[in-house]
Amino acid sequence: MTADRRVAVVGLGYVGLPLAVSFAEAGLEVEGIDVSEARVGTIRDGRSPIDDISDERLGSVLSGGLRVSTQGEARVAEADAVFVCVPTPINSTKDPDLGPVLAAAGYLRQHVREGQLLVLQSTTYPGTTMGPFREVLEESGLIAGKDFDLAYAPERVNPGDPASAAREVPRLVGGMTPRAGERAAALLSHINDKVVSVSSPDAAEMAKLLENVFRNVNIAFVNQLALLCERMDLDVWEVIDAAATKPFGFMRFTPGPGVGGHCIPVDPYYLSWRAREFDFVDRFIELAGDINLAMPRHVVDLVAEALNDRGQAIRGAKVGVVGVAFKPNVQDDRNSPAAEVIAGVAGRGGEVRFHDPHVPSFRDADGVVRAGDDLPTLLAWADVILVVTAHRAIDWAALYGTAGLVVDTVNSSAGYDVADRQVLRLGAGWSGASATPEHPARR
Ligand SMILES: NC(=O)c1ccc[n+]([C@@H]2O[C@H](COP(=O)([O-])OP(=O)(O)OC[C@H]3O[C@@H](n4cnc5c(N)ncnc54)[C@H](O)[C@@H]3O)[C@@H](O)[C@H]2O)c1
Repeated sequence: MTADRRVAVVGLGYVGLPLAVSFAEAGLEVEGIDVSEARVGTIRDGRSPIDDISDERLGSVLSGGLRVSTQGEARVAEADAVFVCVPTPINSTKDPDLGPVLAAAGYLRQHVREGQLLVLQSTTYPGTTMGPFREVLEESGLIAGKDFDLAYAPERVNPGDPASAAREVPRLVGGMTPRAGERAAALLSHINDKVVSVSSPDAAEMAKLLENVFRNVNIAFVNQLALLCERMDLDVWEVIDAAATKPFGFMRFTPGPGVGGHCIPVDPYYLSWRAREFDFVDRFIELAGDINLAMPRHVVDLVAEALNDRGQAIRGAKVGVVGVAFKPNVQDDRNSPAAEVIAGVAGRGGEVRFHDPHVPSFRDADGVVRAGDDLPTLLAWADVILVVTAHRAIDWAALYGTAGLVVDTVNSSAGYDVADRQVLRLGAGWSGASATPEHPARR
């Protein structure tokens, strides 16, 4: 078995582009392929569409081992191995939408050649690689495991967190055959210090879902604890900090306005959908989904409550949302809870504007698109500030020094000198001891 040196990466998003860049930096010959001509054009021009890859880093591999192509131009048959990193969304009834994966397989079916290795990297339910992905590829007339090799290797990158993309983070690989697993592991070991092999693509698919369902369930658990703390006149943030001093057997999760992004609100439904095919209802996933999906509504209730404290109704109130990306320090606003929160406030008659240093314009869950304001403009305009995402780049001192009324869903007020009843915190109630008995959730 000669070493594979030429790699194609299909899908150049948050996962595929860093993979292609890392392979090129490791000295491999890489062709990055995307269905979007606009995306290919942007990358070719040396403009990185994602925060984690700088233009400098992209520029140096573009003048080295990375070529970027649209599907029509790509020379897939020249690659020794192809990694598929296309989206795996859910539809409106929260069932898996394998459309992009099957479209990518349909494209590769026309180019796959004997001896190639095909690796699916998109997050998906156990059975995808060996089932529908393989079936479409085999329509080429070639047989997986005999004519070409097939493996699954999930991604662990956490955009906005450079440590998650480090070489030290182990990667998982499950090959259909030992040879497929060994080839995928050998390629990934160019960019990861440790590659862990499991017995099958299905086991690797399930391991990836375990990682993400684990997060989803624990976030739901602390979200529920936050609601309980509001009723019990306790500060959930203090409680979590206290529990987190235990050096073993506890992992810190924090509550918030809901879950967002491409992974946590999506991937668990891949598993619960698949479970139903085995007459199995995954109750943890259903329950966690219920709790997390209800958080944006609770946040809208907190906004109404804060305004009520000032004798004002949410109808007609000016609500200034701070942070709409789905998590801090990224521009990614996919499935952000801010979309439901803003639509919820607007649905109850509030007027909404927002500020986010990373997101210039934002579409709410009702499809209304708003352009962002700068922070001073928002602070001068709003009756109440609603903090959804705590980016480092926000001037928190100005916010807490200026805003008369704040609903804080992420404990961004911690450490600032805030006045009594200036801030209503998710999971903790009003700032200042004097006001606490009147909080309605505590009656
Ligand atoms: N974003 C994350 O943090 C993360 C982390 C781990 C795993 N994942 C998983 O990785 C996969 C990709 O996610 P992402 O965040 O990179 O998505 P993304 O939307 O950022 O990028 C996907 C890219 O694939 C392209 N594409 C779509 N269909 C295609 C096709 N048929 N052929 C070629 N290109 C196509 C799109 O144009 C886009 O550029 C998903 O399964 C996701 O769940 C994502």
